[in-house]
Amino acid sequence: MVNTLPQSTPKQAKAGIKEPNQETLLTPRFYTTDFEAAASLNVFAQETELKAMLAEMRADYNRHHFVRDETFEQSWEHIDEESRRVFIDYLERSCISEFSGFLLFKELSRRLKERNPLLSEIFHLMARDEARHAGFLNKAMGDFKLSLDLASVTKTRTYTFFPIEWVIYTVYLSEKIGYWRYIIIYHHLQKHPEKQFYPIFRFFESWCQDENRHGDIFKALLRCLPTSRSASTQLKLWNNWKAKLWSRFFLLSVFATHTLTVHERASFYYLLGLEPTEFDRQVVRKTNETAGRAFPVMLNTEHPKFFPLLQRCSDYNLKLVEVDRSSQPKVVKLLRKLPLAIAIIWNLLLVYLIKPIDTEALRFTVR
Ligand SMILES: [Fe+2]
Ligand SMILES: [Fe+2]
Repeated sequence: MVNTLPQSTPKQAKAGIKEPNQETLLTPRFYTTDFEAAASLNVFAQETELKAMLAEMRADYNRHHFVRDETFEQSWEHIDEESRRVFIDYLERSCISEFSGFLLFKELSRRLKERNPLLSEIFHLMARDEARHAGFLNKAMGDFKLSLDLASVTKTRTYTFFPIEWVIYTVYLSEKIGYWRYIIIYHHLQKHPEKQFYPIFRFFESWCQDENRHGDIFKALLRCLPTSRSASTQLKLWNNWKAKLWSRFFLLSVFATHTLTVHERASFYYLLGLEPTEFDRQVVRKTNETAGRAFPVMLNTEHPKFFPLLQRCSDYNLKLVEVDRSSQPKVVKLLRKLPLAIAIIWNLLLVYLIKPIDTEALRFTVR
């Protein structure tokens, strides 16, 4: 049974400018990295692949895609207040996440210009795509007379430092999970056009191809990762024990964040006629399969305990949010939240310990 939690109405700073939602562990993050290490990445082993991807990025297939046509020119007053609130929340979250990609790619492009012009141009073109995505989402928020002041978000948001290796793993996964999220919603609404209450969903098919291309670029970068900073050992990281542990860790972090977020925002999925748990599981399964082509291991999502344990984490998380929103004194809240947080970590550990699937071994068997 999925609970939806009552949420506060969107805060407004100035007329029409929405104050961003509070940052939590589950809100999309802004990243910074070791740009020196990024510049010294030796991409020689994947140069042909990366040049082919650069050509695709230059072709810019979605150049004319993000144009607001006449379907946007109408009043949205008929959408009730609660639906409006959950939809704006979805738009905001997506916009922040796209904008976070834009900022990181733009900075990587700038810092790599002299030392790695090939990667610099690729990052520049990926930043172009993410800026389009974020802008399109922000304009959609504008239809509800609210938009984000992205320039001020850039200054006020906390930036999380990730070493370049972590950036490559997490961005690869967030691009691929983004692809699956967009395409699953798109296909669902193709079958249920009566649930398409706003035209942005019609744009998801070509939009998600951008994310897919970005993911493929990061897959090539994954293969360039050195085990140490020495170029001669580069190809080894792909299939050693460390890469396997990291792959499991990043897969689980991305899937757990997804499960918890989808259930926290279940009402948005009901609005689209999607069952949140089913949607979440479909996205996790598909992303896991895709990642199996890039990582040396993938998670065993078909293990009988895999989804029930994640579901338990989500249930504890919903209780945690409920405590957080209560009006109890801070100390009482902390005491009530602590066992819930421990229970989430414990259950995540149990998922982590489920034996993963060795994708390298599978590559040599006929499926
Ligand atoms: Fe994007
Ligand atoms: Fe992307």
